Amino acid sequence: MKVLIVGGGGREHALAWKLKQSPSLTQLVCAPGNPGMADLGAQLLGSGEAGHEHVVAWCAQERPDLVVIGPEGPLALGLTDRLTKLGLLVFGPSQAAAQLETSKSYCKAFCARHAIPTAGYAVFEDAPRAKAHLATSGPPFVIKADGLAGGKGVVIAQSYTEANAAIDEILFLRKFGSAGQQVVIEEFMPGEEVSVFALCDGERALFLGAAQDHKRAFDGDKGPNTGGMGAYAPSSIMTPALIDETMRTIIEPALGGMRDEGNPFCGVLFAGLMISEGKPRLIEFNVRFGDPECQTLLPLLEEDLLGLLVTAASGKLHGRAALRWKPGASATIVLAAQGYPESPLLGSVLRGVALAAQAHGVTVFHAGTWRDEDGALRAAGGRVLGINAIGANLQEALDRAYAGARQVDWPGGYFRNDIGWRALH
Ligand code: AMP
Ligand code: GLY
Repeated sequence: MKVLIVGGGGREHALAWKLKQSPSLTQLVCAPGNPGMADLGAQLLGSGEAGHEHVVAWCAQERPDLVVIGPEGPLALGLTDRLTKLGLLVFGPSQAAAQLETSKSYCKAFCARHAIPTAGYAVFEDAPRAKAHLATSGPPFVIKADGLAGGKGVVIAQSYTEANAAIDEILFLRKFGSAGQQVVIEEFMPGEEVSVFALCDGERALFLGAAQDHKRAFDGDKGPNTGGMGAYAPSSIMTPALIDETMRTIIEPALGGMRDEGNPFCGVLFAGLMISEGKPRLIEFNVRFGDPECQTLLPLLEEDLLGLLVTAASGKLHGRAALRWKPGASATIVLAAQGYPESPLLGSVLRGVALAAQAHGVTVFHAGTWRDEDGALRAAGGRVLGINAIGANLQEALDRAYAGARQVDWPGGYFRNDIGWRALH
C-alpha cells in the first residue's frame, strides 16, 4: 500500500516508524516529513509542497491507498473532507468532528448534552461579564481561549488579578487572535492527569493505550506549559477498572453523541483526563494522537498499525479484539531548544544523534530538525528530538532513554531530568 503521512513532528515520525514495519506497506510519503522520516526511506514532499492545496493536488494525482493526518491543524482546515471527496481513504476526523478539539465551547456544550463528566464552565465574549463571573467562585481560576492556541491558551490563575489579566489578554489584546473571540472559564479540577487514546471508526472505539505526559518545561513541574516534555506508559494510575470506566463514561458516549449528531468521529480520540479520588473527568478532547504520547505508546504496540488504521478508516472495527501490547514500559524524553516554549533558539547543531539511536532499547524520533547542506543536523523547532526507550519496567525504560539523551551533544538544548517521577515514588 502507498501511504501518505501529513505532518512532520515527533508524532508523525513515530507513525512512520511503526507503519514501516507493516508487511503491506510498499511506499511511504510524508508531507512535509522530517530528516528522521527520510532516514526511514520515506519520500518527503518538503515544506514547499506540504501546504493544504498542494497536498490535495498531490493526492488527486497520486491516489495514495491511505492518508494519515497527524496534527490538528490540517484536520481543523478540513483536509479529511477534501480528500474523502476525492474518494480516498483517510485516517483522521472531518472538520465538523474536529470541533471537539478546535472549539472548547463546542466541546463543553457537547459534554453537557451527553452527560460526559467534566468541569463546570461558562463562556463569555464580554470581558466585564467574564470578570464578574469570577466572583461566583474562588481561585484557582481556569481561563481558556476558545479556539486552537497550540496548548498555550490556558491560564490557571491563582488570584483575581491574574485571572482578570488573562481575560484581558484573550478578549482585549487578542493574544490568540481569532482563537480568543470567546473565553471559557472552568471549575478547577484537582488531581492527576492522564492521556487516554481510542481508535475510532465512526461507530466503535478500541482502547489505544494511556500515557502520562509532563506539560511544564522544567524539573519539579515548574515553568511554563509546553506541548509536552516527556511521557511514560503504561500509566500507573489507569487500572483496568478505570480504563473500563473511561471507555464507558467518556469515550463511548462521545462516539455515540458524534454519530447521533451527524458528525461520526473517525481517527484517534484523545481524552485528556483528570483523575481525582479514583474517578475520571474530562479536561479536554483532542482529535489526534498526543505528542510525545504517540512516540511512547507505539513502541509498545504489538500490532500491524497499517492494518489497524485501514480498518478504522473504512469503518470496520466491529468485532476487532482488544489490542495486544508488549510487556514492560516505555518512556520518552523530549530534547527542546533553549528558550522553548517562549522563544526557542533555532539553528544550533546537534551531534551524537546516531550514537544515541544505538543505545540499548532506544529509538530516536525527530520532531524539529533539519539537515543543512553539509549534512549537519540543526534545531528547527521548539521540541527537537524525542528519545524513546522501552524496558522490562519503567525504571529500566527511563534509564535507557536518559542514557540515550545524554549521548546527544547539544549545548543549544535542554531536557527534564525527572520524567516519570510520579510513577516512581
Ligand atoms: P487544555 O489545553 O485544556 O488541556 O489545558 C492545559 C492544561 O491546563 C491541562 O493539561 C491541565 O493541566 C490544566 N487544566 C485545564 N483545565 C483544567 C481544569 N478545569 N482544572 C484543572 N486543570 C486544568
Ligand atoms: N502532549 C499533549 C498533546 O499532544 O496535546
